Amino acid sequence: MAMDCGPGVTLCGVLAVMTGLGSGVQNVTGGAVYGHPYPMVHGLWPEVAPYGNSQCVQPQDPLSEPSKVVGCYQCYTGDPNCTTDHQVLFQEHEWHKHGSCAGAKDADTFLQTVCDIALAPLKLLYQARQSGVRDLGGFERVLKRNGPQYEVFASNETTSQLMLSACADEGGHWVLTPRRYFSTFCGKASTREPR
Ligand SMILES: *[C@@H]1O[C@H](CO)[C@@H](O)[C@H](O)[C@H]1NC(C)=O
Ligand SMILES: *[C@@H]1O[C@H](CO)[C@@H](O)[C@H](O)[C@H]1NC(C)=O
Ligand SMILES: *[C@@H]1O[C@H](CO)[C@@H](O)[C@H](O)[C@H]1NC(C)=O
Repeated sequence: MAMDCGPGVTLCGVLAVMTGLGSGVQNVTGGAVYGHPYPMVHGLWPEVAPYGNSQCVQPQDPLSEPSKVVGCYQCYTGDPNCTTDHQVLFQEHEWHKHGSCAGAKDADTFLQTVCDIALAPLKLLYQARQSGVRDLGGFERVLKRNGPQYEVFASNETTSQLMLSACADEGGHWVLTPRRYFSTFCGKASTREPR
């Protein structure tokens, strides 16, 4: 199902998070690794065609590259399936493939945005996993119980990933919110419905 940003919304997409209970790897340079001892972030993906009708808003500094591994992409101590070398490539892959359309200032700013919006849901997924949740439905229920901002737009059992609905205003300020609120939080002021 393609994502519809709705009236007056330029940027919409998903935050992809991995519970860490998936298996396998994405077979591209810097691709995702799905098995981890803890939930980890995958990325923030504007749903441009054919995945949706989000526009591609290019970064102010399209030639920038990540200068460091930001917090949420750093390996957990003792994770056998994570190396810093790979996370460097993973960030570059996410930046070039998705960050380049997300209305960001530059690479570091984009990756920090990903971490900022991923922090709360990752914490909830971590707690759920600690308490024994294994199936995606269970993780989804924990998120929903803990905040109206969480909507699972799509999920994948094989990779054990949840894609959470998100949108951004034209300034590239991303928020997690269900699709029915995209216009409210991310629409151009002129298209907002009168209260
Ligand atoms: C990865 O992709 C390459 C090229 O597309 C292919 O030759 C290789 O078999 C793939 N490896 C796995 C493990 O899928
Ligand atoms: C590491 O990856 C393998 C292969 O996907 C998986 O079977 C294993 O459970 C992973 N380890 C952890 C600690 O998640
Ligand atoms: C889940 O992810 C795997 C690996 O990327 C992919 O091959 C598969 O098509 C996905 N399944 C669905 C239902 O999207």
